[in-house]
Amino acid sequence: MDMNKKLAQVSKLFCIEGTFVGYRTIQVGNVNKTYEVRFILPNGKPKSFLIQNVNTYAFRNPVQLMENIDKVTEHIRSKKTGKIALHFHHTADRKTYVIDGKNFWRMINFIPSVTYSSVIDQQVVCNAGKAFGEFQMQLSDFDITQLYETIPGFHNTRQRYEQLRQAIAADPVGRVAEVQEDIAYLLSVEDLACKLTDLFNEGKLPLRVTHNDTKINNVLFNPDDNTALVVIDLDTVMPGLVGHDFGDAIRFAANKVSEDFPGYEKAGVDLEVFRSFAEGFLEMTADTLTPAEIDTLALSCFTLTAELSTRFLADYILGDPYFNIKYEEHNLVRTRCQIALAKDMQLHMAEMEQIVRQCVEHAKAKS
Ligand SMILES: Nc1ncnc2c1ncn2[C@@H]1O[C@H](COP(=O)(O)OP(=O)(O)O)[C@@H](O)[C@H]1O
Ligand SMILES: [Mg+2]
Repeated sequence: MDMNKKLAQVSKLFCIEGTFVGYRTIQVGNVNKTYEVRFILPNGKPKSFLIQNVNTYAFRNPVQLMENIDKVTEHIRSKKTGKIALHFHHTADRKTYVIDGKNFWRMINFIPSVTYSSVIDQQVVCNAGKAFGEFQMQLSDFDITQLYETIPGFHNTRQRYEQLRQAIAADPVGRVAEVQEDIAYLLSVEDLACKLTDLFNEGKLPLRVTHNDTKINNVLFNPDDNTALVVIDLDTVMPGLVGHDFGDAIRFAANKVSEDFPGYEKAGVDLEVFRSFAEGFLEMTADTLTPAEIDTLALSCFTLTAELSTRFLADYILGDPYFNIKYEEHNLVRTRCQIALAKDMQLHMAEMEQIVRQCVEHAKAKS
């Protein structure tokens, strides 16, 4: 495919006027293919846009996904906060995407910015917490029934445990024998891990708009002062629980090692990172969250970690059909790294809860 020609053609379908002058592939991000395309507008000024070729293998319902994104970004823009916001361009027939053969294209305003792939300092973590908290806050009055559940049961922890049990019973590649200890631990914490799901089923936690991929690299930062500009990568926006976003952000950012670090005994929760993220997040959300939601934030970190452990372990047992692996035991290493983190979170649960309470008090005193 001649990319210059293709991207120029796609831009035209999104009604961009002006002259296409070139593109640059953006290497960050490992799900979609992302390009900055450059134009000279009819008024003679240069302007960039972002084009993405959506990975329709990972996202099976791209049209529903785009409808979710369109509604959510429209809602945020309707608040007219004056802040930078994402804007998805429309085609002549008002669609937010162009399908050509196997390719699914979308076009977004380009925001000059930097991203960080790992924790570089506590201020960046705090600002990321603010960004995800602000996203949550801006959508707190959104009518959740308008959103598709594009990945059904994504964080239904009871169902994830059921899937692990089915994998164990099937044992198709004979791996169950070597993972007995991992299975025993995960089953021993099942009720604790599923508490969030159970509380939701009992009607004690509200459904909200959740982002579902709250990694720091999904926040664009201002290169001058590292303030957060906007949350991106809205492919997994769905109805969910606030703890899903908070818990997964902590699971990823506050782990002392990377998600698949082979020396998993070193995995554990960095309470300073936890505090920084919680401070930013709660500064924006303390007023809108219910007491029950606040009370389950620390627990949700454990929940998301245990839940992902069950997914990695089930995948390992089934012979790695889902997650990409770089070596044979990759899913086992991932499982054990997450289990080590989950155990450490159990040990520090009281401290995490206390930090959440302090951050709430702090936020309420400020507002
Ligand atoms: N609106 C935007 N403006 C500028 N850069 C962006 C924008 N959206 C995404 N990017 C850049 O492209 C990268 C990948 O985008 P993302 O939507 O996160 O895709 P992926 O799902 O592949 O992670 C981001 O990490 C960021 O560097
Ligand atoms: Mg991303």
